[in-house]
Amino acid sequence: MLSYRHSFHAGNFADVLKHIILIQNLEYLTKKDKPFCCIDTHAGPGKYELDGEYALKTREFDSGIAKLWQRNDLPECVAHYVSLIKRFNSPDKLTRYPGSPLIAKQLLRDKDRLCLFELHTTEIKLLTAEAKKDKRISVFHADGLKSCLNLLPPFERRGLVLIDPSYEIKSDYQQVVETLVAMHKRFATGTYALWYPVIDRSRNQELERALQASGINNVQLFELGIRADSNEHGMTASGMIVINPPWTLAAEMKQVLPWLADVLGNDDEGFYRIQTLAAE
Ligand SMILES: C[S@@+](CC[C@H](N)C(=O)[O-])C[C@H]1O[C@@H](n2cnc3c(N)ncnc32)[C@H](O)[C@@H]1O
Repeated sequence: MLSYRHSFHAGNFADVLKHIILIQNLEYLTKKDKPFCCIDTHAGPGKYELDGEYALKTREFDSGIAKLWQRNDLPECVAHYVSLIKRFNSPDKLTRYPGSPLIAKQLLRDKDRLCLFELHTTEIKLLTAEAKKDKRISVFHADGLKSCLNLLPPFERRGLVLIDPSYEIKSDYQQVVETLVAMHKRFATGTYALWYPVIDRSRNQELERALQASGINNVQLFELGIRADSNEHGMTASGMIVINPPWTLAAEMKQVLPWLADVLGNDDEGFYRIQTLAAE
């Protein structure tokens, strides 16, 4: 039984990096005229009320989107991300945060598709309501890691798979690698973006080693930390591992990650990592 609700965490520093990278990947796909398919294996409810009970209980958005919201010195791709978030809010008040499905939806053209998976019984109802009447969007109440394989390769032969698990179970770290290998076998030219938290660094090291041993090429890692590693403070950093990233992504992140580490980091403890896990 799933208990994780992303509403407690919406708009935090991890969402900032995750959604900037999602946007950069989708923008790149829209540069060519040909259609693409975006698959979100862990879609969540679609959007979040930042003035609602769950978000206000933790106020995690204070250390993420709220720190960026009113700044006028944002690097270009952060400004683009913030402008998409602003579309869900009145000009002077931050009360709503779009999740990955609604962020992706804004970047779809008429010919593109968005396929969303969600398992939680409450979240799937909210997600279905958000997606209704949009013919480009399909919603599945199913295990995204398993069922996503049935959609690969997409008939467009171009696309992005976003994998954003809650890592409620320790075996999730191993399962995501096994699933990525299976997905990549079916659709080797697709782009895959895997989100990960840093709670206990040894688990991340295992995840990175397992991916390196998988034989998948062209893998880059982008990480943003707000405080030094510690097993006592919950999530201290998070990152995205991208297989077949747009060739422009690493250069963009080299500009943006130091800035985000400085602005979102706690008391000068912010840091970032950019690493090639496997060469092209
Ligand atoms: C981190 S949240 C997703 C947040 C969302 N991607 C966003 O950016 O707004 C993870 C979601 O995955 C759902 N979930 C957990 N295991 C799943 C699975 N195996 N298949 C599909 N959804 C799952 C949880 O219910 C939760 O809503």
